[in-house]
Amino acid sequence: MVTMPDFCCIKFLLQMKIEKKQFGFTNSGVEVHLFRLVDESGAYIELTNYGATWVSAVIPDRNGNLSDVILGYDSLAGYLADTAYLGSTVGRFANRIGNARFTLNRRTYKLDRNDGNNTNHSGFSGFNKKVFDYQIENNKVVFSLFSPDGEGGFPGNLRLNVTYSFSEDLTVTIHYSAESDQDTYLNLTNHAYFNLYSSGNILEHSLYIPSTEMLVTDEFFIPTGEFTNVDNTPFDFSKPKQIGRDIFQNNLQLINNKGYNHCYVLDNPDAECKHAAVLYEPKTCRQLEVFTTKPALLIYSAGFLNSVEAGKTGHCYSPYAGFCLETQFFPDSPNQPSFPDCVLRKGEVYEHRTEYKFSVRL
Ligand code: BGC
Repeated sequence: MVTMPDFCCIKFLLQMKIEKKQFGFTNSGVEVHLFRLVDESGAYIELTNYGATWVSAVIPDRNGNLSDVILGYDSLAGYLADTAYLGSTVGRFANRIGNARFTLNRRTYKLDRNDGNNTNHSGFSGFNKKVFDYQIENNKVVFSLFSPDGEGGFPGNLRLNVTYSFSEDLTVTIHYSAESDQDTYLNLTNHAYFNLYSSGNILEHSLYIPSTEMLVTDEFFIPTGEFTNVDNTPFDFSKPKQIGRDIFQNNLQLINNKGYNHCYVLDNPDAECKHAAVLYEPKTCRQLEVFTTKPALLIYSAGFLNSVEAGKTGHCYSPYAGFCLETQFFPDSPNQPSFPDCVLRKGEVYEHRTEYKFSVRL
C-alpha cells in the first residue's frame, strides 16, 4: 500500500498555483507524479507524467459548484490497467493505420497489429503507457519523451514535448512539439473523455461541430479515402444537437461504431487555430469550446468503453459515460494519398495546439 504525501506547492505565479504529489509506481518501480494547477477561484486541472495524461478538470457549474468533468482514475493503478486511453496523450499515430503498415521514402514499415489486422493508437508501445520526464515552467507543465527509432515500427528517433497550461479564463491549452532525425509520420492527440454533468452519460449534452464533411470508413473503422456530406444524416452537428437524439438510429455506421466514432473535416482549413467543437450540458450550463491547429476532429461517444478499474466516481465506466473530442490529422493518412500530408520531415518541427475553453452559458 503506497502512502500518498499531500500535494507540496512548488510554484505560485500570477494567482496560478502548481502542486505536485506522488501518484504511484509503475510495475517496474518508476515513481510517477500527479500535478495540480489551481487558479484563484479554486478551479483546477490535474495531470500525470504517466502517458502525459490529463487526469481531471474541476470547474464551476451555473451555481459556482466545482466538479470534475473528465473521466479518470484516483491512482496510477487505474491508468496502468486502462485500455481506453482515458485522458492520455496518444502517439505516435492517433487512431488507425490500415493493415498495420505504411510506405515512406520507398520503404515499408510494419507496425503492431493491436486492432484486428490494423494498428490503433500506435500499437503496444503507445505514448499512453510511457513515463514522461517533466518540468514546471510558470503556469505550465512540460512533459518530455524520447521515442527511439523503430519503436512500434515507426522510423526516427523522436523527441517530443507535451505542454499543458491552465489560465484564469478556464482554458486548458495543450501544445505538442516534436522533432525526428529521420522522416516519419506523426499524429498526436489527447484522448480525454468529457462529461460536463460529472456523472451518468453524455446523451443529453448538445454538440456543435463546424463541419459538414466526414470521412467514410469501412467496417474495421479504416477510412476508404472518400468523404461524405453530413447534411440530413444523423452525423450532422453543424447546428447544435443533442448527442442522444440520433445516436440509436438504425444506421449501419452507428450500429458498427456503437454510436459516434467519426472523423470530421473542420471548416476554415486555412485558419491557424480553428473552432473544432462546442459541447454543452443544459442542467449545469457548463460549456466546453475546442479550438485547434489540426485539420480534423474525431468524435467518439465511447460506445466500447467498459473500464476494468473503478474510476474516480467509484464505479467502472460504461458506454457513453464520456465523450472524446480528438483533434488530429485524418486516420490512416500514411496510406491515403488524398488526405493532408502528416509526414514529419527530418529537421522540421511538428507543432500542434489545442485549446479547451470551459465556461458557463446562462
Ligand atoms: C477510436 C475508437 C476506439 C477508442 C479507444 C477512439 O479514438 O476512434 O475506435 O475504440 O479510441 O481505443
